[in-house]
Amino acid sequence: MPESRLPRLESPVLTERAPAKVNLSLRVLGRRADGYHELSSVVAFAGAGDRLTLQPGETLTLDLAGPGAAILAAGGDNLVLRAARELGLRIPGLRTGRFSLDKRLPVAAGIGGGSADAAAALRLLARANGLPRGDDRLFAAALATGSDVPACLYSRSCVMAGRGEALTPLALPRFGALLVNPRVPVATADVFRALGLAPGAQLGAAAPVPAFAGRGPALFWLAGEPNDLEAPARRLAPVLDEVDAALRATPDAGLVRMSGSGATMFALYPDCRAAARAGKQVAGAHPAWWVKPTVLG
Ligand code: C5P
Repeated sequence: MPESRLPRLESPVLTERAPAKVNLSLRVLGRRADGYHELSSVVAFAGAGDRLTLQPGETLTLDLAGPGAAILAAGGDNLVLRAARELGLRIPGLRTGRFSLDKRLPVAAGIGGGSADAAAALRLLARANGLPRGDDRLFAAALATGSDVPACLYSRSCVMAGRGEALTPLALPRFGALLVNPRVPVATADVFRALGLAPGAQLGAAAPVPAFAGRGPALFWLAGEPNDLEAPARRLAPVLDEVDAALRATPDAGLVRMSGSGATMFALYPDCRAAARAGKQVAGAHPAWWVKPTVLG
């Protein structure tokens, strides 16, 4: 049979999960000369997340589906496309294709939805192009896409430092967690700006993160290491006071805190059943909020 008559074999569709990132603590240590803030943050990843697929091909495109699709514009600004372009700049001839994003996480919510999607795109492109997971160009494309993308590329609990580029693996105990977003988008840059730090400002050094011997010691340590972005975010989005009160009113809530630059808040529980019970309570009282019981660690 002449080659032109052979049936065209399509590459199989590849799938990656894009788990939500939760900052269990987030200390701002200062502001660098380049304007970024120097951080130290204990980061965990949730069972909940978006889902991204790639049909490998020659042309880079993105389809959107899921509850968050309408809010996201499928334009050039989407972090999936941006990450693919950043990798293409570093790998001439990179095979891309048709991405499809099932958008389940709220947008501009402090749980790294866009960053997780970008990281999932890089993992898919690595698979489609036979790149090892540790390829430096993946990491460089991740950091060029956004400060949270390297941690999301790793997607396992870690201590994140610098502006997000210095990652140290950290074993965390498993928690049930409830994520709650009042559906008020908060821009990361606005929250950092509201801190009012001048470039070059230095606030202090990071507390060393110990090896946690279980949920109790982890909660004890985390109680003393807050999220420094929570106060400015609460000034920008006062509804966070209500979210905080709703989470604190749930039985067995061990730690109640905001993630990233907000406005998603979370509470930690001993197990998933307690988190699911708390989810019913909060969703019943606040039907307009996004309420997601999940697992962390
Ligand atoms: O890196 P990314 O584009 O996600 O950051 C969005 C904005 O958040 C930055 O432009 C900057 O204003 C602020 N930011 C910061 N310090 C960080 C991370 C983000 O000031 N470590």
